[in-house]
Amino acid sequence: MVTLFVRDLRVQYGSGDNAVNAVDGVSFSLEDNESIGIVGESACGKSTLGLAIVRSIPGGRVISGDILLDSKSILNVSEEEFTGNIRWKKIAMVFQGAMNSLDPVFTIKQQFEEILQVHGYSGDRIKTINDAVDAVGLPVSVLDKFPHEISGGMKQRAVIAMALLLRPKLVIADEPTTALDVLVQAQIISLLKKMKKEGMSLVLISHDLGIVSEISDKVAIMYAGKIVEFGTMQEVYSNPKHPYTQALLKSTPKIKGGLDLISLKGNPPSLASPPAGCRFYDRCPEAKERCETEPPVTKTKTGYVSCWLYEESK
Ligand SMILES: Nc1ncnc2c1ncn2[C@@H]1O[C@H](COP(=O)(O)OP(=O)(O)OP(=O)(O)O)[C@@H](O)[C@H]1O
Ligand SMILES: [Mg+2]
Repeated sequence: MVTLFVRDLRVQYGSGDNAVNAVDGVSFSLEDNESIGIVGESACGKSTLGLAIVRSIPGGRVISGDILLDSKSILNVSEEEFTGNIRWKKIAMVFQGAMNSLDPVFTIKQQFEEILQVHGYSGDRIKTINDAVDAVGLPVSVLDKFPHEISGGMKQRAVIAMALLLRPKLVIADEPTTALDVLVQAQIISLLKKMKKEGMSLVLISHDLGIVSEISDKVAIMYAGKIVEFGTMQEVYSNPKHPYTQALLKSTPKIKGGLDLISLKGNPPSLASPPAGCRFYDRCPEAKERCETEPPVTKTKTGYVSCWLYEESK
């Protein structure tokens, strides 16, 4: 059983004039055995948000807000307790590009063993490793191979198996299907679905709304460090409210109806000096005067949307 509540979280890289608030007042919640997709274009802060949840932000720090796991703040516990009892045991992360950072000089088995070693695992190591590999549909023969001897899809399964090794209740998977061909993508998606069926909660980070829609119960659309729309997958996908979400959906290729494809003009604002009002203002086809100076948040049936178009429903 695990619930996650991220409340008004701010994460900063650098300091002074160089400070970048990569996550800037983000809130969302995840119930037990739910999955949430975090979607948005490159550099909007998705990985930073995931890294904050496992308290491992190289070069960055949480400057305000909170992260509650089963109603208890994980930002206040000591590093010792977090490392010993929470990271990898309750929350594990499949880091973006992790399959490319497998150590080339060690076999896959040695890399699994090292994780158990670091955590002082006292159970049956061989069985635990074999079970994890089996759970992701890999043959145990993979364990004796070096990373360069297995395919990209197999490597990605191996890093997912590593995250599952200590049976965490919550897994954060950062772009787990990026750079894989569509058939392997489909395999990884069905693997994540299976993990969810077996009781795991999932935070799936992706720039691809199509992939997220396959797995997620909820979705958070991020733009320039903020969540601009949050709700159930069903509601957001069938009735996107924020103009950015609408643009994102229209720019997702479909086999049928691909002629609708649009591409957004312009670029997201700098996170070092973001605009005062809505961060999508410059690119928004619906922008009004007040959007330039005042950022809104409006409740929806199942979440919220940060857009003045919906002010009336407040
Ligand atoms: N270590 C760092 N030091 C300084 N700035 C950083 C650092 N890591 C990330 N950033 C900045 O923080 C912002 C968010 O980066 P992040 O990696 O979270 O984005 P992302 O949404 O995961 O992007 P992508 O889809 O490309 O993976 C970007 O502007 C990035 O340049
Ligand atoms: Mg990223």
